[in-house]
Amino acid sequence: MVIEDVLHRPLLDLRISVTDRCNMRCRYCMPREHFDEDHEFLPKEDILRFEEIARVVQALIPHGLRKVRLTGGEPLLRRDLHELVRQLRECSSDLDIAITSNGLLLKKQLKKLHDAGLSRVTISLDALDENIYQSMGDTDASPSIVLEAIDAVEKIGLPIKVNTVVKKDVNDNQILAMVNEFGPRKIPVRFIEYMDVGSTNDWNLDHVVSAKAMRSLLEQELGPLESNKPLHTSDVAKVYTTPDGWKVGFIESITNPFCGNCSRARLSANGSVYTCLFTNHGHDVRGILRMDGSPEDITRAIQSIWIKRSDRYSEERTNQTTKIKVEMSYIGG
Ligand code: GTP
Ligand code: 5AD
Ligand code: SF4
Ligand code: SF4
Repeated sequence: MVIEDVLHRPLLDLRISVTDRCNMRCRYCMPREHFDEDHEFLPKEDILRFEEIARVVQALIPHGLRKVRLTGGEPLLRRDLHELVRQLRECSSDLDIAITSNGLLLKKQLKKLHDAGLSRVTISLDALDENIYQSMGDTDASPSIVLEAIDAVEKIGLPIKVNTVVKKDVNDNQILAMVNEFGPRKIPVRFIEYMDVGSTNDWNLDHVVSAKAMRSLLEQELGPLESNKPLHTSDVAKVYTTPDGWKVGFIESITNPFCGNCSRARLSANGSVYTCLFTNHGHDVRGILRMDGSPEDITRAIQSIWIKRSDRYSEERTNQTTKIKVEMSYIGG
């Protein structure tokens, strides 16, 4: 039986944060002044073991779960992540197992992840230009490492997408270059409107470039963009095709929110379920897992959380977002 919330939205996707740590400090996500040496990351014993994560997934598959996404923080900081992929693949041969990574550690781990049954990869890359990449990610790393990882994913034959968060006057001059780089390679780039997620990034509406403005910029250079029909109603990106047949997506969380079909639950690294990216309240399931709860106990716990869900934060947001919200690096992007 499918699990539906108050607004009749089924639970179809689980976004799993496997660690709250990251090897970058993107200004919009983990600004260094907040995520410095004094920041208390989750203690190791609080973090779900792979076997515990797999039990949650196993319990939800009979109820319609079709996709899991491994995120973080940076999921590849978790040692032997391929072992989790293998355990998830054992749960179901049909499950869509995706990962969102900044790509810096991917090349070395890719073969093991592929062999373990990973379905596809999404890489976060905000700029091709080295200075812009380094300043937005507050990192010394070079984007060439990420480009090499993308080459490796192409070579191994896994489907790949690139995600780019766009911040006004910071990396909006990279939009066309990104499309020109990845379009001909048939790698969809998805531009994400900078969101007011968390409480540390000093978000302000003036920093947002609307997807509409991004499309008109691209249309001036590339010609008309044709809107594609969504593959699933719960897809977050609106996809367009350029006259050359390249795919470009836009995640319009600010100007055109998509809560109406939101089928995404989030599992934090320490085992709490969050029903919305913008909530500050998680529901603990680690207790049940560590008390040897049966699959039925786990399902019942998540069902009782989901059936009360009525979140539609992005549709209700105002510019005055004073509420304290959970950080994205903690519950998963
Ligand atoms: P696909 O299955 O490839 O379509 O993946 P996805 O688009 O669901 O996942 P991805 O990690 O690529 O999501 C891209 C970005 O969209 C995230 O990093 C967030 O910025 C944003 N996003 C994803 N889910 C939500 C959501 O439920 N609400 C909001 N507001 N933004 C979201
Ligand atoms: N706005 C939009 N997307 C964000 N992400 C993190 N913080 C933000 C934000 N403030 C997303 C990006 C990144 C992923 C890991 O999390 O998509 O690629
Ligand atoms: Fe790390 Fe991704 Fe957040 Fe950047 S956006 S700090 S790479 S988790
Ligand atoms: Fe779903 Fe909350 Fe995002 Fe809306 S704001 S799409 S309810 S996670």
